[in-house]
Amino acid sequence: MKLPVAELHIHLEGTLEPETILRLAGQNNIDLPWPSLQELRAQYNFSNLQSFLDLFYANMAVLRTAADFQEITTAYLHRAHASGVRHVELFFDPQAHLERGLALAEVIAGIRAGLDAGLARWGITHRLIACFWRHAPAESAMEILRTLVQERHAIDGIGLDSSELGYPPILFQEVFAYAREHGLHVVAHAGEEGPAEYIVQALDLLKVERIDHGIRCLEDPALVQRLVKEQMPLTVCPLSNVRLRTVDTMAEHPLRRMLEAGLKVSIHSDDPAYFGGYLDANLAAVIGQFELSREEQAVLARNSIESSFLEEPAKARLCAEVDAWLAAEHL
Ligand code: HPA
Ligand code: ZN
Repeated sequence: MKLPVAELHIHLEGTLEPETILRLAGQNNIDLPWPSLQELRAQYNFSNLQSFLDLFYANMAVLRTAADFQEITTAYLHRAHASGVRHVELFFDPQAHLERGLALAEVIAGIRAGLDAGLARWGITHRLIACFWRHAPAESAMEILRTLVQERHAIDGIGLDSSELGYPPILFQEVFAYAREHGLHVVAHAGEEGPAEYIVQALDLLKVERIDHGIRCLEDPALVQRLVKEQMPLTVCPLSNVRLRTVDTMAEHPLRRMLEAGLKVSIHSDDPAYFGGYLDANLAAVIGQFELSREEQAVLARNSIESSFLEEPAKARLCAEVDAWLAAEHL
C-alpha cells in the first residue's frame, strides 16, 4: 500500500516531460531552439529560479489546444496515481497561455476534462488554482482575475508564482482582496528565494491560507513561532529546492528542522518533469536523507491532507487511510 497523500504544490506546465515537449512541438508546428531530445535535455542545469523559469516558459509554447491541456493533465494524474496521490490542487499560469494567444476558456476546459478523467479513472479528487506572475504588473493579474470571476470560469483559487526577488507580495494586495471577496481560496509562493519578510507580507497583506515553499521562514524565529501557532501550511518541494540551488544539497535541506520546530509542512513536487521526480521521488529523497520513521512519514501525509481545500469528511476519510497505512506495518 502506497502512503496516501495530497499534492498541493504542482504546476501543470512543470509536468511537461521532454519527450512530450518534442512530440507536441512537431504536432503543433512549433520551432523550439533545441530540436532534439539530447539538446533539450542539456538545458536542464539550473543555477537559480530564473534560469529554470526561462526554460519552463519557453517549453510551454508547445501547448496550443484544449486537447493538449487535457492530455498533459491526464498524463500527470496517471503518474500521480502511481505516487499515492489521492487529491490534487493543480496550479496553472493563465498569463503564459494568454500571452501566446490562447483563450482562457479553452485552456481551462482542457485542464478540467483531464481532471474529470483523473477522478473517473483513479478516484483522484481535485481543485484548480490559477497562479499569477509576480514579474508581471498587478494590473494584468487583476484584469484576468476579473474575467475569471465575471465569466464564472471553473477555478477554485488563486496563487502567486514566477520570479520572487524584487516582487514582494504587497504588489498584489488588491488582487488577493478581490479573490477573497469572490470566495476564492488564496495561496502564494513566498520564502523560496525571497526573504522571510515576503512570507510575513503574504500572511498579513494577502491573507493567504497556505505558503508555497516558505523554507526561508527559518531565518526569522518570530515568524516561525507565528507559523507554528497558526499551524499555517507550508508546501515544501525538496527536489526543486536542490535543483534551483535554494539549498546546496539535500543534506542541508531544512525539512528536519522545520518538522522539529512544529511547522505544518508537507512534501510536494513543484515541477516534477524539471526537477527529477514526482511526489514519490520527493518523499523518497527526504525519507532517505533524514531517515524519517513511518510515523514521521504519516505526519507529512496527514499534513498534506489537512492543508488541502477538501471538505472535512473527505479529509477525515483520507487521514483514516493514512492511519491504515501506518497500522499495516504491524501486520
Ligand atoms: N517558483 C516560482 N514560480 C514557479 C515555480 C517555482 O518554484 N515553478 C513554476 N513556477
Ligand atoms: Zn512552485
